[in-house]
Amino acid sequence: MAGSESTPDLQEIHDFLVDLAFKAGKTINSALPTVSSTDSKKNSSDLVTEYDRAVELQVSTALKEKYPEYDFHGEETYDPAHPLTDAPTFIVDPIDGTTNFVHGFPSVCISLGFAIKRTPAVGVVFNPFTQTLYSAIRGKGAYLNKTTKLPLKGANIEPLQGLSNSLIAVEWGSDRSGQNFETKVRTFEQLGKSREEGGAMVHSMRSLGSAALNLCSVAAGTLDLYWEGGCWAWDVCAGWVILSEAGGIMVDGNPGEWTAKLDSRRYLAVRGSPNGEGQKELVEEFWSHVQGRMDY
Ligand code: IPD
Repeated sequence: MAGSESTPDLQEIHDFLVDLAFKAGKTINSALPTVSSTDSKKNSSDLVTEYDRAVELQVSTALKEKYPEYDFHGEETYDPAHPLTDAPTFIVDPIDGTTNFVHGFPSVCISLGFAIKRTPAVGVVFNPFTQTLYSAIRGKGAYLNKTTKLPLKGANIEPLQGLSNSLIAVEWGSDRSGQNFETKVRTFEQLGKSREEGGAMVHSMRSLGSAALNLCSVAAGTLDLYWEGGCWAWDVCAGWVILSEAGGIMVDGNPGEWTAKLDSRRYLAVRGSPNGEGQKELVEEFWSHVQGRMDY
């Protein structure tokens, strides 16, 4: 086991997290959530089930036993008095896509990340409904089901060709009033609207209902871009390494902010492209369509 002064063994951590994700996946698959037995947190669209809490306990117990020297930052036990620090930290969403989970919509995952100095270093995202595993270690590439390197088209991935040729992901999130909601809704309209009327007219918009799975789809290259405000470090930490290792980039969701922070709660992810061609241009084009600013 690594001491607190030693460099974390990222491969060992990755392998442990993959194993843990499979075990937690069994718990998720054996659950029977119902809408009527589901609790809400901030409002009626911000859901949590007994299974979110049980899976987080399962994961945190295993991590604290194996790696007592590293911090733990999990969605269901988050305490605003203890924000993310620079220390090596496991950043965990036990069930990302809780709304899907409650409704039985099969876009659900466990998201297990490990960050050092608030930079994602290991990411494991596992959808137990579809048995799909995405994983990455910083500097070692990103993989689907351990063996297929991402992006899926490899060196044959097409160069990005602007927003009007893009399939993108956005999310409604759980804030349904105020400046952040307004910014999102007006931006969605702008993204969909015809170019003759000043819009971006993207090919279309998707909402997988899980930030981690949106990021993994951008990493895979099946989505060109993902924009969201309101999600948290545990939603994006694991997916962020997978994205970066697949050649994608992450910037802030607010226009002009090229450096995204793990806990900024605003994110814009763009997929890989040969030699990064068109990535910055796509970011700037997207930002030019954002209607207002998010103040998370
Ligand atoms: C949510 C999902 C959703 C995103 C929300 C997140 P949860 O996480 O990732 O896609 O729009 O911002 O909070 O609550 O299902 O763990």
